[in-house]
Amino acid sequence: MEAKTPFYITTPIYYPSDNLHIGHAYTTVAADCVARFKRMQGFDVFFLTGSDEHGQKIERTAREKGMEPADYIEGIVANFKKLWQTLLITNDDFIRTTEERHRQAVQKIFQQVYEKGDIYKARYEGWYCTPCEAFWTERQLVDGKCPDCDRPVELTQEESYFFAMSKYAPRLLQHIEENPDFIQPESRRNEMVNFIKSGLEDLCVSRTTFQWGIPIPAAPGHVIYVWFDALVNYLTAVGYGSDEEKFRRYWPADVHLVGKDIVRFHTVIWPTILMAAGLPLPKRVFGHGWLMLEGGKMSKSKGNVVDPMVLVERYGVDAIRYYLLKELTYGMDGTYSEDLLVARINSDLANDLGNLVSRTIGMIERYRQGRVPAAAAPTGGAAEIVHLALATKQEVERQLDRLDFSSALQAIWRLVGRANKFIDESAPWLLVKEAGRQGELDMVLCTLVEAIRAITVMCAPFMPTLPRRVQEQLAVFEDPDSLTWEEAGRWGTVPSGLQVRKGPALFPRIDTAARENLEEAAAAGEPGQQPQEAGLISIEEFTRLDLRVAEVLSAEKMKKADKLLVLRVRLGDEERTVVAGIAQHYEPEALIGKKIVVVANLKPTRLRGVESQGMLLAASDGEVLGVVVPDRDVPSGSRVK
Ligand code: MSP
Repeated sequence: MEAKTPFYITTPIYYPSDNLHIGHAYTTVAADCVARFKRMQGFDVFFLTGSDEHGQKIERTAREKGMEPADYIEGIVANFKKLWQTLLITNDDFIRTTEERHRQAVQKIFQQVYEKGDIYKARYEGWYCTPCEAFWTERQLVDGKCPDCDRPVELTQEESYFFAMSKYAPRLLQHIEENPDFIQPESRRNEMVNFIKSGLEDLCVSRTTFQWGIPIPAAPGHVIYVWFDALVNYLTAVGYGSDEEKFRRYWPADVHLVGKDIVRFHTVIWPTILMAAGLPLPKRVFGHGWLMLEGGKMSKSKGNVVDPMVLVERYGVDAIRYYLLKELTYGMDGTYSEDLLVARINSDLANDLGNLVSRTIGMIERYRQGRVPAAAAPTGGAAEIVHLALATKQEVERQLDRLDFSSALQAIWRLVGRANKFIDESAPWLLVKEAGRQGELDMVLCTLVEAIRAITVMCAPFMPTLPRRVQEQLAVFEDPDSLTWEEAGRWGTVPSGLQVRKGPALFPRIDTAARENLEEAAAAGEPGQQPQEAGLISIEEFTRLDLRVAEVLSAEKMKKADKLLVLRVRLGDEERTVVAGIAQHYEPEALIGKKIVVVANLKPTRLRGVESQGMLLAASDGEVLGVVVPDRDVPSGSRVK
């Protein structure tokens, strides 16, 4: 048997200063989706998460509550574990930085760097941001506050140990240049390159003003800086200093998945420590965006955190995972609101996927006594679906390998949409009435079952309970709990004569919540939102439109067309071509650099041979035409709603 290729993926280890919210859950769910996908592909996955238990912030929080830090965190860490179980997270290990194995690893690497001469003692005078656990020089502060989180900093003066980070700057820059995958997405890489080029200082790596940390054995009273301690968790868990074989197998990590706020720690401090210790660097650090609330950041102090446990209970684990992975587009921030969540569940899950399954099963019951018929080789629309399913599998692989969860789901949903359309096009309810077209009906039904099977396999990393739930109604899998990725590309494996069993809706429509939302909107005095009234649309229908801010990179007239301009636009990290019928109103140059609004989920269309991947918004009374632009400068890729 061929040996499996190792694949090591990590989440950040979370501070147990408080329970986790839906934003934290995003990182872990995303990492879990990759871990499941890679396991399905046959990799030997090691997936790590854990808790970052030392540092001034935890010590202070515990003391404020009149507790010892060790006692304080115990209950919270237990809640972390409960949350990950609820979200069906399949981590292979859970590391706690207060564990003995970790103390040994941290002290070992600290000692090693010290002996190499890259850790030295000096007097430290500077500013410390406790919430970020980050050191800053006077020059780096912005208006006297932490440049990362804009909170007050504290003046710190102590005799400390320093890590000679600055001397590694040239080597680090060279590494980033030679390994374009090292920092992803590209926008974060550019940010980091600029940060490093602006000059690295040596890093203070010990503290004497508090005790809640890993001691430096040779220097009583000094504890190791919490980020030095925390980052080493990625080594501890794979056996650094304790299990050589395991360490050689999994290190370097394939991906550190982290939020945008801690990319700097992972791409400047971490690699330079590893360089000093003579260890290979992780292959990739991916900095994802944040899940924001409509009013801004989620924070305990604002009292607006969203508890993922409550949401899972209310809507189910598959729906929450789907929402998180769909909402944050590649590297960008996303918005959380319960209205958006409900709208997504109702449109994507209940309407699109749920209906596809229930319509198909319903037709098999009505037209074929509940048994999947045998069918001839697919032709026409059915052949198109087979082709699209295979292309979708490849597209999902490509997108998941670049950690673009949202695009992967979009690709799967194009297949779901195509299958639903196929039902309408082939109108089985008419075929069933024509004696000569029964073979055609068999082919339609068979194709739909195969498509549902392939879609379910592809959805498995995102929505782990889906295969089992589909299996109850449509027993197409040998074992729904151990699917392989390759099965998504198989066609024609569904046994004919298979008995279907209609069960409850896979994703029930959320009516109560939708009603509540409407009531709330009505109470807030928002104009008529009753979808029943002719000509009006519901908020759900509106949110199906993905409107985004796009920056115009280039614009030119379409050859041999006097109305069309071809624009190249940027939406966050993505570039697209948009063809717009505005050439009689705008000179191309006048548009370059403008931030405009485009419909980002419009089906691409070809205009004079050029594919237009979106539509720009413009207002016009028939004579005057103005392109819609946001009132102030918002980053490209931002959502318009
Ligand atoms: N303990 C450090 C990480 C050490 S890793 C060696 C830490 N912990 S944290 O609990 O504050 O944050 C953990 C992760 O949660 C970070 O990646 C952070 O970006 C992420 N998130 C916190 N709030 C978030 C959102 N609202 N949205 C998405 N991710 C969010 O930093």
